[in-house]
Amino acid sequence: MINIAVLGYGTIGSGVVEVLNTNGDSIAKRAGDQIQVKYVLDRKEFPGDPIMEKLVSDVQVILDDPEVKIVVEVMGGVEPAFTFVKSALLKGKSVVTSNKELVAKHGAKLLNMAKERNLNFLFEASVGGGIPIIRPLNQSLTADEIVEITGILNGTTNYILSKMSDEGLEFDTALKDAQDRGYAERNPAADIEGYDSCRKIAILSSLAYGMQVDFEDIYTEGITQITDTDIKYAKAMGARVKLFATSVRENEDHVYAMVAPMMIKADHPLFSVNDVFNGIFVRGNVIGDVMFYGSGAGKLPTASAVVADVVDAAKHMNKNIWTIWSSKKLELADINQVKHRFFVRVEGNSDSIKKKVKDLFGGIKEVTADHIENEYAFLTSLLEEQEMKDLREKLPEIRSTIRVRF
Ligand code: HSE
Repeated sequence: MINIAVLGYGTIGSGVVEVLNTNGDSIAKRAGDQIQVKYVLDRKEFPGDPIMEKLVSDVQVILDDPEVKIVVEVMGGVEPAFTFVKSALLKGKSVVTSNKELVAKHGAKLLNMAKERNLNFLFEASVGGGIPIIRPLNQSLTADEIVEITGILNGTTNYILSKMSDEGLEFDTALKDAQDRGYAERNPAADIEGYDSCRKIAILSSLAYGMQVDFEDIYTEGITQITDTDIKYAKAMGARVKLFATSVRENEDHVYAMVAPMMIKADHPLFSVNDVFNGIFVRGNVIGDVMFYGSGAGKLPTASAVVADVVDAAKHMNKNIWTIWSSKKLELADINQVKHRFFVRVEGNSDSIKKKVKDLFGGIKEVTADHIENEYAFLTSLLEEQEMKDLREKLPEIRSTIRVRF
């Protein structure tokens, strides 16, 4: 019998208990022993739920119990999660977490603490919900130099953009729907402003390049500026708008990372990743392109990844699974030099505005969509981010811009 404790009985915590109850026998076969939840930590009470028998409100009870071998942290947020996880490792317990804020901020430190003690710190569920991506990066794609990771890493925003595009839903209705389904973060800004995707691409980049990529250094834009008019133009072009989280290693000294809405067409591997699904495209210098696809959020998919880590921790008692993520900081390249094509909407469609656009942008491709009046839309040629910023200053009539990958 392997005793575990679950810190936090919210959406994911209750999912972990449900998965262990549902698939207990097959999980025991894979782990080599029965996994038993000995404690659940939560400040709230859950009247009528059998979990009440295991509920504790003081983490010290868990830390002081030598029978608890694995601690599952699914509370979210940096504190008190960081303190609890550190304490668990100091007490000789392996830790499994779904907490991307914690992993992005302290992953290198916690991995090192686990390694020094022959324990494990595992975090498959922190990126891509139920999709295996951390383990493949650590253990499968080890013959490759990773040169690009591009993902749709936030289920909530992908759900919102898909509903806006397919069903014409308003932004707020689609967000509320995603929240009701348990996809969204407690603070909606974490999803819609891109912060969640930013932490996830920071984690993937740190693992891919073996160094600390600070999420604070990653240029991040969310989807709050995307309007139904943008979506109409995208549809007229046969394109979709997706929130991309990307990191590209152009050479050893030049890695850039960003989170931003992107227009893509059917020839892009992430075009068909819709609704709450996540997709992650990885390019290695030997293997070429690899795609990962699946449920990126939600109670059971995320719990599935957490429990899979518990199984891995159970199979590796007193044996550290080595993960290369040094705390040495990777300095990211200046985003202003990165090049994209842009979709641009300008207020007004007079000959003088068209001439101004032509003079400033040179070769452009006009874009039209039905029932949109008094504006002019076009695709630019490849421009550096800084050039686009300068052009926006010179042309105050610009209403919006979206980066384009076609
Ligand atoms: N709010 C996150 C999402 C949950 O929508 O993807 C999974 O990390």
